[in-house]
Parts: sequence; structure tokens; C-alpha cells
Amino acid sequence: MSSLTQKEQKKLVGKVAIDTLIEKKLIFSGMKIGLGTGSTAMTAVTRLAERISDGTLRDIKAVSTSFQTANACEEYGIPVFTLNSKLINGKLDLAIDGADEISPEKHLIKGGGAAHVKEKIIEYSSNQLVIIADESKLVATLGTKFALPVEVIADARVPVTQALEKLGAKCVLREGVRKCGPVITDNGNQIIDCTWEQPVNAVKLEDKINSITGVVENGFFTKKNPIVFIANADGSVQEL
Ligand code: 5RP
Repeated sequence: MSSLTQKEQKKLVGKVAIDTLIEKKLIFSGMKIGLGTGSTAMTAVTRLAERISDGTLRDIKAVSTSFQTANACEEYGIPVFTLNSKLINGKLDLAIDGADEISPEKHLIKGGGAAHVKEKIIEYSSNQLVIIADESKLVATLGTKFALPVEVIADARVPVTQALEKLGAKCVLREGVRKCGPVITDNGNQIIDCTWEQPVNAVKLEDKINSITGVVENGFFTKKNPIVFIANADGSVQEL
């Protein structure tokens, strides 16, 4: 029996998801598609580019959730727009992205790549959200294992941290790698990573955290009902 590494699972799920969605006519020529961020989302971008190159898809209009994705689209020659572009007019047909945690209710934590602000704007503006992931991302409850990212205006770091601690969170300012000081997001803000000792109500917390002055957006995604593709180590891909 085959045993795929996590990297192999990510590659597999991106390819299978794009091919399946094309077969089911959920991805089609002329559509407006939001493209996520991270190593798994990149495998879907790569497969999408292949299906454009082989002539299956034409006139795809992409909206990217980060510089990483915009750069990849530019590399592959996939035309990139913003939600504000006349041709997009604020609404997407479908968005596809990875996730850090996926609960049994298909609620998510996203933002491991610090891109959750644009991811949420774009994915909440999309008719259909598709999440692709390896099996390690399935969890029983959100927020106790992988930290919830909260993007904050730099000047509000301390009061926001205090407010998050009042909600029971253990808070850590995300530090840069090969960059001194905190991570600065694509939007010029900072990230506070939050974990809880006990399971939390993600539906309530998604709104509650956003009501703290100085918070830009948090990484709970509970307001969509995504199609989820999961790749397993045995080489199978399941759709949830
Ligand atoms: C970026 C994200 C990513 O989708 C999430 O972190 C998963 O990343 P990867 O596919 O590299 O494991 O939310 O902000």
C-alpha cells in the first residue's frame, strides 16, 4: 500500500480537485475564480494553469489572495484582477484555497501564511468555496492545536492582545523568518497568533474578535459551506 508524504498529498489534492471540478462543470471557461495562498493552494494554481495550457479552459479571470498567488499567476500567464475590477464587479463564481484546520462542521482556521484578510474578503465574495488539504488538517475542534491568526493594526497591538486574553486566548506576536521583528502582512499589519486550552465556539468568536477595535480580521472561516477535498496518505482523495 502506498504511503504519501504530506507534500505528495498536497500535490495530489490540488490536481484531483481541479480535474474533478472541471468534470462537474463547477470550473468552466470564462469564469471568475479566487485563488488562495499557501503550498496546497499553489498546487491548484499549477493544475489550473496546466488545464488552461492544454486548452480545456479559456478566458479564466483570477483574483489573487496574496503577492504569492499574484506572482504565480503572472508566472503562468493567468490574468489577475482585483475584486474592484469592472470585469469582476465584486463577485466571484468560485474560490479555491487551503486551510490550517478543518472541523467536522467544515469550519476553518486559515492564515498560516498570514493571508487570511484577503482570503476572507475574496472567499466570502465567492458563490462557492472549495478547500483542499492533506489529512493532517482535519481536527475535532478548532483553536487548541493550530493558532488562530488575528491581523491587527500595529498601533493597536497591546490593547488588542489584552482584549484577546480576556477571551481566554494565549497570544503570541508572529515573528518574521529571515527578517528581524514581526511579520508584516501584505496589508502592512501585524499578526497575533491565538490558542485556547479548551475548545471554543468559532462561530461566535469570529464576530466577537472582529468587534475589537484595531482588529482587521481573524482567521476563523465559519460563514461558508465549502466543498472540501482531503488527500490521504494511502493515495485516496475524499470529498466532504
Ligand atoms: C494562508 C492560508 C493557507 O491556506 C494555510 O496556511 C494552509 O497552508 P498550506 O497549504 O501551506 O499548508 O490560510 O494564509
